[in-house]
Amino acid sequence: MLKHRILLLLLLQLTLFLALCPTSSSRPEPFAMRISCGSFVNVHTAPTNTLWYKDFAYTGGRPANASTSHIGPPLRTLRYFPLSDGPENCYNINRVPNGHYSVRIFFALVQDPNFQNEPLFDVSVEGTQIYSLPSGWETEDEESFAEALVFISDGSVSTCFHSTGHGDPAVLSIEILQVDDSAYYFGLQWGEGLILRTAKRLSCGGGKPEYDEDYSGDHWGGDRFWSPVSTFGQDSDQAISTENSIKKASVSPNYYPEKLYQTALVSTDSQSNLSYSMDVDPTRNYSIWLHFAEIDPRIQGEGQRVFDILINGDIAFKDVDIIQLSGDTYAALLLNKTIAVNGRTLTITLHPTKGNHAIINAIEVFEVIPTESKTLPQQVMALQALKNTLGLPLRLGWNGDPCVPQQHPWSGVDCQFDVTSVKWVIDGLGLDNQGLRGFLPNDISQLHHLQRINLSGNSIHGAIPSSLGTMPVLEILDLSYNFFNGSIPESLGSLTSLQILNLNSNILSGRVSAALGGRLLHRVKFNFTTNAGLCGIPGLPACGFHLSIGAKIGIAVGVLVAFLLIVVSSIIWWKRRQNIIRAQTIATRDAPYAKSRTFFHYSGYCQVFLWLNFGFLCQVSSRLHLEAPFANF
Ligand SMILES: *[C@@H]1O[C@H](CO)[C@@H](O)[C@H](O)[C@H]1NC(C)=O
Ligand SMILES: *[C@@H]1O[C@H](CO)[C@@H](O)[C@H](O)[C@H]1NC(C)=O
Ligand SMILES: *[C@@H]1O[C@H](CO)[C@@H](O)[C@H](O)[C@H]1NC(C)=O
Ligand SMILES: *[C@@H]1O[C@H](CO)[C@@H](O)[C@H](O)[C@H]1NC(C)=O
Ligand SMILES: *[C@@H]1O[C@H](CO)[C@@H](O)[C@H](O)[C@H]1NC(C)=O
Ligand SMILES: *[C@@H]1O[C@H](CO)[C@@H](O)[C@H](O)[C@H]1NC(C)=O
Ligand SMILES: *[C@@H]1O[C@H](CO)[C@@H](O)[C@H](O)[C@H]1NC(C)=O
Repeated sequence: MLKHRILLLLLLQLTLFLALCPTSSSRPEPFAMRISCGSFVNVHTAPTNTLWYKDFAYTGGRPANASTSHIGPPLRTLRYFPLSDGPENCYNINRVPNGHYSVRIFFALVQDPNFQNEPLFDVSVEGTQIYSLPSGWETEDEESFAEALVFISDGSVSTCFHSTGHGDPAVLSIEILQVDDSAYYFGLQWGEGLILRTAKRLSCGGGKPEYDEDYSGDHWGGDRFWSPVSTFGQDSDQAISTENSIKKASVSPNYYPEKLYQTALVSTDSQSNLSYSMDVDPTRNYSIWLHFAEIDPRIQGEGQRVFDILINGDIAFKDVDIIQLSGDTYAALLLNKTIAVNGRTLTITLHPTKGNHAIINAIEVFEVIPTESKTLPQQVMALQALKNTLGLPLRLGWNGDPCVPQQHPWSGVDCQFDVTSVKWVIDGLGLDNQGLRGFLPNDISQLHHLQRINLSGNSIHGAIPSSLGTMPVLEILDLSYNFFNGSIPESLGSLTSLQILNLNSNILSGRVSAALGGRLLHRVKFNFTTNAGLCGIPGLPACGFHLSIGAKIGIAVGVLVAFLLIVVSSIIWWKRRQNIIRAQTIATRDAPYAKSRTFFHYSGYCQVFLWLNFGFLCQVSSRLHLEAPFANF
């Protein structure tokens, strides 16, 4: 048993080593990371012995058994995210070499009678929303996964699942597969600012669902999934296939499997046009990739089959002659076009102009999605600090990026696009009545763009951070109905944009600084009532001697010392007086000297008190002494 485990471990390490390290061949293997969600152990799947890592410690959520999925990898477990764990949940996969990746996520249902409903949720990669699960996805092969081509430049991949209130997001697997740096290059607009989401990938005339892997395609192709389509419509076409090998199929940068070109659809005699339609989301850009190889034995040379390609009625390619363009029969031809689609349908029509039939081998359609700018990193860090110190409840989530995807910002966080940094920044925090129990960290001042803070109605304790006074555009600060203690930081007086300051119903005490007081009197609306003891501005009690705890202790000690000195000196004076009286009864010459010494002692006490800055005490005590009955003795 142990031996087995060790062997397995060695095997795993070897596979990992092979996956991560370049082999001696001319082209290294692409980076590949596959995660079996909800699995406590690494899993190998047939038939290719593919390694899936366990997902321990990547994210929150809960593991469960998965119901069998249609085309997904044969994995037994999934991870789901109950709404009580927060609306945003993410896998953050680190140590991914920078490059171009195909990121694919398969969804599945929890195998449990209590989870009958198909969850509908949104998926984002690197802060950009790429997919909204449509209802009925569980029965549609191509809808049960999301796939996108993404550039990674920060060494990590963040994939998030966003609840939309329709069930708990449930994820079967995550694959991060490196592809060629210029895979699917379509022209000048192509680049790091765009994500290509797979909307459709058809193998025309194919018989069953196939992956690149099934076709023994090159690993740099990213193990694409090809849906088979045996016809575009009634009697319009027929499937043909060949066993002949296809030239120039698996070439850079896309490395298509040769088998893709060995089947095709050809229009029939009755219907010369070949037309394919699919539903799309309106007002988006789509990149369309069309695959051809002349595998029809009837066509043997240039000029025998020429057709135009129309996309939504506009000619995208004119006079396409496959043999002329690819150079031969049984040779692959790839054409691509990126267009804006306004309606809800995308129609690709092949219209023959020479010969009576059109032919097509495969179709790929990508939605072109502009990547979102992320949130300024130090603002994200400040919010993370806030999340920790305030003890944010799980249900609020706060995973992934605070501001993007724009459809799913963190709850309680308002965002604004900052044109100077070209990043998102936080301009409002609304966490009122959220059951927060912690304290407010100094890091909150890192959120330089904050205009509104409402933390009213929580159980936040400790001091109000003085760093709040450094927030340049803060207009509203509502910390009411909490357990803030100590004094109001003087720094709040420098908040020049402040309009509303609610600190009522806390346990604050002490003098309100003159600077803040000045502001309050002018145009800031404020409420300081129901606190432990604030003073110093009109509307609040006068501060009197009760300036601060330090002053109170000082005064108490001063009074005590003074009292003791008075008692001691009185006793000394009384004793001496007794001695003088006794001496006078014996001989009267020493009396004037004794009197002057006694008065010298009094002024000495006064100097000590003055030094202690409590001159008034000295006056009070000397008056007390002078009024004492024995003073006139
Ligand atoms: C998952 O399935 C296994 C058997 O395959 C079973 O032992 C286990 O109890 C199941 N777990 C849950 C949470 O249903
Ligand atoms: C896609 O088409 C453009 C021209 O529209 C071309 O420059 C580019 O090389 C093509 N991409 C591939 C991978 O063939
Ligand atoms: C074939 O497509 C072309 C271009 O869209 C169109 O003009 C023509 O009418 C179509 N022919 C048939 C028979 O539908
Ligand atoms: C579509 O592409 C055009 C040109 O590249 C661009 O101006 C436009 O913003 C894009 N539209 C969408 C919805 O991405
Ligand atoms: C802060 O939130 C509380 C509770 O929701 C609300 O009553 C109060 O008006 C808010 N404060 C400000 C300044 O808007
Ligand atoms: C404020 O409360 C905290 C406990 O929540 C305590 O440790 C701290 O000493 C208090 N500060 C003042 C000034 O009362
Ligand atoms: C000020 O706060 C007190 C207690 O927290 C509340 O009763 C009062 O309505 C508030 N005043 C205003 C004007 O909002």
